[in-house]
Amino acid sequence: MNLSAPLTIALSKGRIIQQALPLLAHAGIAPLEDLGTSRKLILETTNPLVKFVIIRASDVPTYVQYGAADLGVSGKDVLLEHGGEGLYEPLDLGIARCRLMVAGLPDARVPASRRLRIATKYVRTAERHFAAKGQQVEIIKLYGSMELAPLVGLADLIVDLVETGNTLKANGLVPLEQIVEISSRLVVNKASWKMKHEDLTTLLGLLREAVADRCLGQ
Ligand code: ATP
Ligand code: PRP
Repeated sequence: MNLSAPLTIALSKGRIIQQALPLLAHAGIAPLEDLGTSRKLILETTNPLVKFVIIRASDVPTYVQYGAADLGVSGKDVLLEHGGEGLYEPLDLGIARCRLMVAGLPDARVPASRRLRIATKYVRTAERHFAAKGQQVEIIKLYGSMELAPLVGLADLIVDLVETGNTLKANGLVPLEQIVEISSRLVVNKASWKMKHEDLTTLLGLLREAVADRCLGQ
């Protein structure tokens, strides 16, 4: 792919970069260093005008919103929390698929004397979900290991991602309600979309092809 200007792509280590790399390879973009061993946060790629910035998954929308990256790959869970300001979300990449769910102990009950306590890192999405059902809840913000909260009496329920259900099962929890299906999206800075429209449209077309090929291959 011939570009007319430099492009910075924000990616997070782990499942997103692992699953996004084959799609980016279809556009001739691959990192020049081994991601498993490199500690660098800015990586050159096989396209001299394209670089990757490697950041936390929950920071991707922020980097793209402020134009520190022209585009990025972000889970819909993270985008719902972020709010999507300053971003376009032109393509569902269909990777890192899972579900955002309410889960709890099999015998979880609504307590009579207080509001239901929900432990989650998805505060905004959980608030919206329970408000839409007319349920007044107390949200307890956590940064990980949500499954522990009901086991130690910190919360009645959790809102967390579920893929295979193994983590819930291993901790004696059950899925109770699906909030939304999750996959990773391509996000693009609004100003970059205008300024680098031709380059971004070409890249988007190639990624769309890669997603379609991947779907056909499944
Ligand atoms: P951060 O480092 O910012 O806290 P994180 O630890 O959630 O983020 P990852 O575990 O790499 O980062 O998850 C990145 C994205 O992958 C999530 O935002 C979600 O969209 C998706 N995801 C998370 N867990 C799963 C899973 N078990 N199966 C499939 N997709 C998942
Ligand atoms: C995610 C999520 C759940 C688990 C669900 O955690 O927070 O704990 O995956 O997947 P499962 O239904 O297949 O068990 P992850 O493995 O990403 O660890 P993390 O929370 O430390 O990022």
